[in-house]
Amino acid sequence: MIIPAAKRLSSVQEHYFSRKLREIQRLAGQGREIINLGIGNPDLPPSRATVLALQQAASLERNHGYQPYRGIPELRRALADWYQQVYRVELDPEAEILPLSGSKEGIFHISMAFLNPGDRALVPDPGYPAYASAARMAGAEAVFYPLSEATGWLPDVTELRRSDLLAVKLMWLNYPHMPSGAVAAAAHFRELVEFAKERGILLCHDNPYSLILNPAAPLSILQIDGAMECCLELNSLSKSHHMAGWRIGMAAGQKAYLDAILTVKSNIDSGMFLPLQQAAVQALSNSAEWHERQNAVYRRRRELVYRLLDLLGFRYSQNSAGLFVWGRAPEEIPDVEAFTDELLRSAGIFVAPGIIFGQQGRRYIRASLCVPEERLQGALGRAQAFRALKES
Ligand SMILES: Cc1ncc(COP(=O)(O)O)c(C=O)c1O
Repeated sequence: MIIPAAKRLSSVQEHYFSRKLREIQRLAGQGREIINLGIGNPDLPPSRATVLALQQAASLERNHGYQPYRGIPELRRALADWYQQVYRVELDPEAEILPLSGSKEGIFHISMAFLNPGDRALVPDPGYPAYASAARMAGAEAVFYPLSEATGWLPDVTELRRSDLLAVKLMWLNYPHMPSGAVAAAAHFRELVEFAKERGILLCHDNPYSLILNPAAPLSILQIDGAMECCLELNSLSKSHHMAGWRIGMAAGQKAYLDAILTVKSNIDSGMFLPLQQAAVQALSNSAEWHERQNAVYRRRRELVYRLLDLLGFRYSQNSAGLFVWGRAPEEIPDVEAFTDELLRSAGIFVAPGIIFGQQGRRYIRASLCVPEERLQGALGRAQAFRALKES
C-alpha cells in the first residue's frame, strides 16, 4: 500500500538540480571528477568577523532558545541601516522589515499570504523556478511573461497592459535578473510600479544579486516614489555575503503586507537561531573593500568562463550582473539540453541548460562563477579536448 501525496504536488516537479545532482554523484562514484558550473552556491567564505561572531554567540549557554518571529531588533536595525547605505531607502525597522530564513522561503510565504485559489501570478520566463512553484502550491495559476535578449530581458509593459490581466493579483520581478544577469534602470521600475498601481497588482521584487558584479548602482524597487503602496522586496545575504547555508534573508515593504507574511511565517517556523542573527548583524557591516575583494575574484573567474563559452561557441553579454554567465547557443546546436548532457558525460563539465528557467531560455546555458580559478582552468582544457573531438 502507498498513501498518495497531496494533489497539489502534481502541479510541481522535483527540482532539475535535485535530479541532476544524483547523476553527478553517480558519475563521481564511477571515478569521474565533475567540474560543476551548474549551481550558484557561493564557495567563498563569509567575512572572518562574521564567522567569529557566530562562534562567540554560539558558545554562550543562554543563546539557544526560541527567538522572536520578527527577528531580533538589532538585526532589523542593521538591515534598515544596510538599505539606507546601499539603496538610499529609508525603512522603519519596527514596521517595514521582516527577517526571513532565506529569500526562497519568502517567495513561498508571500504566495501563501496573498494568493487565493483561482488567482493568477505573473512570473518571468526565464526566471527563478520557485516563483511558479510557490504560486501553484498556493492553488493559484502561474502566468509566464516572456523576457528576451531583444528587450534586454526586461518586461514589455505595453504588452502586459494589452494582455488578459483578469485575476492577476501578484507579479514577480527580479533584477539583476537571474539567469540572464540583465540589470534594470530606475525608469523601468517606475513604469512597472505605475502599471502595478493602475491594475491593483502586488509587485514583488526579488533582489539577491545587486551587490555582485553590478555594472550599475544597486537598485531597490522601494526607491521608486509610491512603491510602498504596491511593492514588496525580498533580499538575501546568501550570495552577497557568502552565507547561502545560513539561510538569512528579509522582506521589506509596508507593515500591512509584512503582517500578512508574518501570519504565514509564524505558523511555520519558530524564529531564527540567535547566533545566526547576531552574526548577520556583523556581516551587514562588511566594508565596501570586502565586497570589492569578492567581486575582484568573481571578475577573474568570469574572464575564464567567457573563454570557456568562446571555446564552446556560445555568445554572451559582458554587461551583466550576478553570479552567472548566460550564453546563447550557436545555430549548429539544435538541442541545448542534450548538449549540456553530452558536455557532462563526455567532458565532465556541468552547466545548467537555460530551459530549466523557462521556454525562453531554451537556446541558452547558465554557467556559475562559484568555481575556483584552477577548476575553471581545468574546464578550459577539457572544453578544448571536447571541441577537438567534435571537430575530428
Ligand atoms: C533569483 C533568486 N531568488 C532567490 C534565491 C534564493 O536565495 P536564498 O538563499 O536567499 O533563499 C535564489 C537562489 O538561487 C535566486 O537565484
